[in-house]
Amino acid sequence: MKVLLLGSGGREYTFCHQLAKSPQQPQLFIAPGNAGTAAFGTNLAVLPTDFEGLKQAAITHQIELVIVGPEVPLVEGVVDFFTNDQALSHIPVIGPSKQGAELEGSKEFAKAFMQRHKIPTAAYQSFTKDTLAEGLTYLETVVPPYVLKADGLAAGKGVVILNELADAKAELTAMLADAKFGEASQKVVIEEFLDGIELSCFVLTDGKSYKILPMAKDYKRIGEGDTGLNTGGMGAVSPVPFADEAFEQKIKTQVVEPTMLGLQKDGIPYVGFVFIGLIKVGDNPKVIEYNVRMGDPETQVVLPRIKNDLFELLQAIATATLDSISLSVDDRTTSTIVAVSGGYPESYEKGKIITGIDPKDFVVHAGTAIFNEDLVTSGGRVLSATGFGDDHHQAIAKSYEALAKIEFEGMYYRKDIGFDL
Ligand code: AMP
Ligand code: GLY
Repeated sequence: MKVLLLGSGGREYTFCHQLAKSPQQPQLFIAPGNAGTAAFGTNLAVLPTDFEGLKQAAITHQIELVIVGPEVPLVEGVVDFFTNDQALSHIPVIGPSKQGAELEGSKEFAKAFMQRHKIPTAAYQSFTKDTLAEGLTYLETVVPPYVLKADGLAAGKGVVILNELADAKAELTAMLADAKFGEASQKVVIEEFLDGIELSCFVLTDGKSYKILPMAKDYKRIGEGDTGLNTGGMGAVSPVPFADEAFEQKIKTQVVEPTMLGLQKDGIPYVGFVFIGLIKVGDNPKVIEYNVRMGDPETQVVLPRIKNDLFELLQAIATATLDSISLSVDDRTTSTIVAVSGGYPESYEKGKIITGIDPKDFVVHAGTAIFNEDLVTSGGRVLSATGFGDDHHQAIAKSYEALAKIEFEGMYYRKDIGFDL
């Protein structure tokens, strides 16, 4: 079967790596992929948001299944584009409709959804340019820290947490009146601050039934001890030691079930992955955000723990037969640690030659490319090393062993992944 995978990061590399293990040997095309994905299939020079380009690629290569990695094409309606095009409508796409993708595309939509379906989350109010004055007054009633969220997609930068009222007022004004995040901050959600430890829950659904995938925890900040700027993610581990069985049960009954039922009640077509960002407040889960795709780098630790044939699982999504499959999860712990270009998440140089990847290690390509036959850096997050172990200490040690062999100019990675577990 011919499969088109959209995206170019470590998440997509990991999908390729796991799909390539399938006895059914799907033929993979990746748009646009990276230097590593080329080992598993054919990279196509088409961006995931170039819908006409995707259409041509799907027709030319007789694609039979599409898997969407990143959120932007989903929020822009790639699933509806395929469904509504006569030449493409026979091709199943693993990903939610544009309406379903609003769970990630609009914080306000997500908050209203949670409120409607009684899903535990932080209290909130939302404001626009026209109601800025009310927003400023509302801030005076909020207990700090102040959590301000741009409503739309802002590449992970749209959430600002501030301690001082004056700073919060200035930020709200910048977002609404000065369009600090462009269209994304035409609306701003002001949210109650939740104090606790974060983890993520991943759900796979065919629109009728669902499976809860292994939980994971990622490390978002650039600096050790969770300090410095936010990044796409500097590392991840799975499972999460503080999420015991009782807590997982609460996540299932208080969050996952009402989310899946809510989508059905609201008549929102949704197949694919739901990534639920949670904070454990005391002993209870509260939702911080929904994403409508797998996480990156969480995929690098979640998919390798799934013992089922990933291709078979995704086909069951496409044919709405997920209930016939039982999920089998590896008891071992996985970790992944991300090596980035010096300067990331601010500006950085590309084109640095990468050496020392040991083929025996599970090294995941992200921002890599081939230039003059050399493997070079081509992005902020360059690669990550995934390790397995009996516990997180062992798994993390494996990741570090693999990274210690690798070199490129300016290479940086956090040495403290798992410090808080
Ligand atoms: P988000 O983009 O919604 O995941 O938010 C980015 C980060 O901001 C989260 O990973 C949390 O660390 C933090 N955050 C978001 N919402 C809250 C909240 N209500 N209380 C405390 N921290 C939050
Ligand atoms: N690692 C967080 C994300 O994929 O959004």
